[in-house]
Amino acid sequence: MTFTTDRRSLLKGGATLAGLSLAGPGFAQSDRVASLLAKMTPAEKAGQLSCFSDQIRPIGVPFNPNLPTGGATAQLERVRTGAIGMLFNGVGYAGARKAQQAAVEGTRLKIPLIFAGDVIHGLRTAYPLPIAEACAFDTDLAERTARAAALESTALGIHWTFAPMVDVARDQRWGRVAEGSGEDPYLGTRLAVARVHGFQGNDLRDPTRVAACAKHFAAYGAVSGGMDYNATEISPATLREVHLAPFQACVDGGVATLMSAFNDIDGVPASGNHWLMSDLLRGEWRFKGMVVGDYTADEELIAHGFAADGRDAAKKAFMAGMDMAMQSDLYNRWLPDLVEKGEVPVARLDEAVTRVLRLKEAVGLFDNPYRSVSQRAERTSVSTKSMLALSREAGARSIVLLKNDGNLLPLKDNPGRVALIGPFGEDRANVVGTWAFMSDAALNVSIAQGLRNRKLAFTSVKGSEVEAPIPGGIEAAVAAARAADVVLLAIGETQDMSGEAQSRTEIVVPAAQMALAEAVAAVGKPVVVLLRHGRALALSGAVKAAPAILATWFLGSESGNSIADVLFGDVNPSAKLSASFPHASGQQPYFYNHKSTGRPAPDQGDQAYKARYRETKNEALYPFGHGLSYTSFTIGDVAVPATMTDRIEISATVTNTGTRRGDEVVQLYIRDRVASRTRPVRELKGFERVTLAPGATKTLRFTLNRTDLRFWGDRDWVVEPGEFDVWVATSSTGGERKTFTLA
Ligand code: GLC
Repeated sequence: MTFTTDRRSLLKGGATLAGLSLAGPGFAQSDRVASLLAKMTPAEKAGQLSCFSDQIRPIGVPFNPNLPTGGATAQLERVRTGAIGMLFNGVGYAGARKAQQAAVEGTRLKIPLIFAGDVIHGLRTAYPLPIAEACAFDTDLAERTARAAALESTALGIHWTFAPMVDVARDQRWGRVAEGSGEDPYLGTRLAVARVHGFQGNDLRDPTRVAACAKHFAAYGAVSGGMDYNATEISPATLREVHLAPFQACVDGGVATLMSAFNDIDGVPASGNHWLMSDLLRGEWRFKGMVVGDYTADEELIAHGFAADGRDAAKKAFMAGMDMAMQSDLYNRWLPDLVEKGEVPVARLDEAVTRVLRLKEAVGLFDNPYRSVSQRAERTSVSTKSMLALSREAGARSIVLLKNDGNLLPLKDNPGRVALIGPFGEDRANVVGTWAFMSDAALNVSIAQGLRNRKLAFTSVKGSEVEAPIPGGIEAAVAAARAADVVLLAIGETQDMSGEAQSRTEIVVPAAQMALAEAVAAVGKPVVVLLRHGRALALSGAVKAAPAILATWFLGSESGNSIADVLFGDVNPSAKLSASFPHASGQQPYFYNHKSTGRPAPDQGDQAYKARYRETKNEALYPFGHGLSYTSFTIGDVAVPATMTDRIEISATVTNTGTRRGDEVVQLYIRDRVASRTRPVRELKGFERVTLAPGATKTLRFTLNRTDLRFWGDRDWVVEPGEFDVWVATSSTGGERKTFTLA
């Protein structure tokens, strides 16, 4: 069977995802699938639609609730009965071989298993958290780390990753902001498409490629109050413009699968939402891939109060469009009965099974069930030097220089006496971030190790625990600061303070660490804050006042080396915030592309009765798109045509006005001044990363098409003539405002 690659120009700028498209006409009807289907019993069909956490080669970390305890023997037996179509989150050649043998030799029809896993930002080799990597504004980097993760996954017996997570999140209290690409749908969409291509490549039969899974469909990032699993209350326009945008781009680009979400959307749970998973996904977007439910999301329809019992939940999830059930076993238990009683049409059952079998065929499992199950690959393609080098590069490109008063950074190679203070100085247990259970902790490089790798002499004092004081800790830290010429203050969150089920009410540095920071700052030596965090934080006190602040997120295996590379200037920081740092924790949700309101607070002048808080204006301490460099750049000669019909070209120059070579991320923002629906005060519509030597200038050209100016009207996308503001800037608050008129 030949597979055509499906090229579609996704976004302006022709960013295309050349990927095998299950969504497009290029996917020929398969005789093998049709003939298999004809032989299958309803029970065998239900088995292909059922997946479970791998007990045969378990990760051994309780990362999901009620993780099954059936054990390998029981699960192997279930594989042999054909009750399992996929296993997830098992790793390693030997267990994969054993499980696959049970499927292809033990079952009646010898249908192979497909193995999946949560390879969200790397497997054994961990790359930066997606929210951190998004700060690089670098689609090529995102594709490269996804590609490397696919290489390692297929060397460890995984064919399908439950990534990219493409949920746009605007409330940093939500722990899963860590897994996404930040607050902006345009940036999120560009990176989602790049990651899908990195995972899938141009042909899924390539044994080093994995099927991707855009998740969580949909609007999981809109949970009310930032509380995980909560209901969402969003308008159709926000749903379309913000939360669905990355999914639609992935579908258009040929993503193989989607995963349905836990949350409800205005009262209808996503995992039981026929409009979402059928009318929109199949009818409007023409998606032909497969939808897997999130972990027991079908069964949770009962707790939602949307289904009466397991049978009802299975019927509602399945008929809404969830093809495969994860962990609940409800499809095995109820689909044959529902079909026999005529409550589920055979055609719907066959449709779902066809999608699963096509996925297995697309990945090449019918030709070679032991694809990606290779002892040799496990030895040669895991945590390779190039993967570790990529992790280190990606980490350094994800670090945001928030502040650098007096050009304190970069440190000189001989910076004098250095004190490394804080609970994350020597720490190796919190460098990967959430979804760390798949990574090889032995690879983790602490900040201290990164400094030692540079042969730097320094004093290291923990000073406090993450959320508790250490008796005598502050005194020891103060003494170390007194004896130092510069202090590196390594503070922030542990990796389990973000991620799934880790929403926080206060997005702040824990109090024990703030006390440490205040005492150390009072000594009066220059302090460089090395912030560790899985979300944007509200900074205050001595942390906010420090002369230099590096937002280092969770950078993955090579974290300490990446941080040292930026600290000492081997890498000139160029990252820009993918999520706004608010002035206060209570300012959530906060996002740069907010509405104006009828009473926007002016920059200067009377603030009474304006859209603001008593304590702070409706703005960020460090906004989306912000990030400094060790050099400086200016934007000039911004040329914007006065009028636009189908498209316009906007040009500008960017000049390196400093003394170091560096990268700048030039961003294009618009504002639709007057429209039939209120529009955001700014919307990102383009970005370009440029590398310039000192004194060099480059002319950039951005193209805006009419479709880039669309918004969701009453029932469809609309573009309305009128005046648009446009900025070519280096952050979401910068740039000189220009205007054009759309005819
Ligand atoms: C989890 C997550 C989902 C993950 C799945 C399998 O609950 O919500 O992102 O892929 O279960 O581990």
